[in-house]
Amino acid sequence: MNSMDQMKNTRYANIIPMKELDTKEKRLYPFPIYDKLREETPVRYDKERACWDIFRYDDVHLVLKNPKLFSSRRSQGEKRESLLIMDPPKHTQMRNLVNKAFTPKVIQELEPRIAEITNGLLDEVIPNTRMDMVYDVAGPLPVIMIAELLGVPARDRQLFKAWSDVLVKGPEVNTDEAFTSVMAEKRQASDELSDYFKDILVQRRRKRENDLISLLLDAEIDGEKLSEEELLGFCILLLVAGNETTTNLIVNAIRYMTEDVPLQAHLRAHPELLPHAIEETLRFYPPIQAIGRIATRDVEIGGQKVEAGSQVISWVAAANRDGRKFAEAARFVPTRKPNPHLGFGFGIHFCLGAPLARLEARIVLGILLHRCIDIEREEGALLHPIQSPFVFGVTHFPVRFRT
Ligand code: HEM
Repeated sequence: MNSMDQMKNTRYANIIPMKELDTKEKRLYPFPIYDKLREETPVRYDKERACWDIFRYDDVHLVLKNPKLFSSRRSQGEKRESLLIMDPPKHTQMRNLVNKAFTPKVIQELEPRIAEITNGLLDEVIPNTRMDMVYDVAGPLPVIMIAELLGVPARDRQLFKAWSDVLVKGPEVNTDEAFTSVMAEKRQASDELSDYFKDILVQRRRKRENDLISLLLDAEIDGEKLSEEELLGFCILLLVAGNETTTNLIVNAIRYMTEDVPLQAHLRAHPELLPHAIEETLRFYPPIQAIGRIATRDVEIGGQKVEAGSQVISWVAAANRDGRKFAEAARFVPTRKPNPHLGFGFGIHFCLGAPLARLEARIVLGILLHRCIDIEREEGALLHPIQSPFVFGVTHFPVRFRT
């Protein structure tokens, strides 16, 4: 294995596209391919990406619920520390610090503000009876919310969006040139974000505010304050993790509702079903399609021997449609309950921002269905997938509607 392969293997296999998804058309609707892979090669080693791919629900579940066997520390030597790539006991300590800022009860209090921002964004575009779901509503809302929670100026949101876009990006094709160029872009975005947050930290050290950054500055683990790198890692993770993902959840829900127009009227008449429809969107059109881990010892998955040190990619988007787990797995069932989808992951790394993402989605979709009728995809509008193999979403989603 050359050094480039080694780097891909140990750190970045989940951002390299697999050969089965080599065109934009396939990435725009990858589910038939996931169905085939899940049924034909449920656990397979991909030489080109130097990683294992896991597609069935029970196997993915096993990987995610066993952090001792499958480590999140996939980027040893990464400059920035982040919750997402920590293992216990450090992960437990760091997660406890921020948990209290993200409980459903705390998040629920944001409801009026989320509604106010949503209505403000819609006021700008509703008179036109057309809008771009990504650009006009689903893109700005999560960025504004997380900026307000963290305590950074929401007016810088174009910058955050541009940085987040680059940080979730993967190479368009599996070549060393494409990989090197994307990695350089990512490094630059990460450095720029760091510099941005360093300035904010200087300001907050002088004067605390009622925000998450001030909370993190005062937090202690075993009597010790967080290091500068840990603080920066947290800020960047919170800004990026909750941004693109929530945008895609909202847009994917609307995308599905334009493919199943009667569902719009049904949900308008029964808003109490919205939370279930949102969970079903997380199962059926999950914004995060795959999650990476490293096997810490030799282990058997689905009858295959996976060696210690191997990169293991769990395909949540395939597992979520596994008929062994879900009845009518290939159908969007807006009333599905229970719905043990893996769209927010599972186990100790289960999405910290899930209550916020759920609330934002519920409020936006509720207001949208109330204010706009017969939302349809703009005729002739071409869709483009987001350039990242682990994200399921589109760059723009133009719609028309009646009021
Ligand atoms: C973790 C998905 C929104 C913050 C995760 C994981 C997934 C996920 C799959 C697990 C990753 C792993 O196991 O390695 C999503 C989706 C979202 C969303 C689909 C929107 C629909 C948010 C929001 C925030 C956020 C709004 C914050 C404001 C985090 C953090 C982690 C995480 C900090 C790491 C937790 C840990 O390692 O303990 N998310 N997320 N996410 N998410 Fe989200």
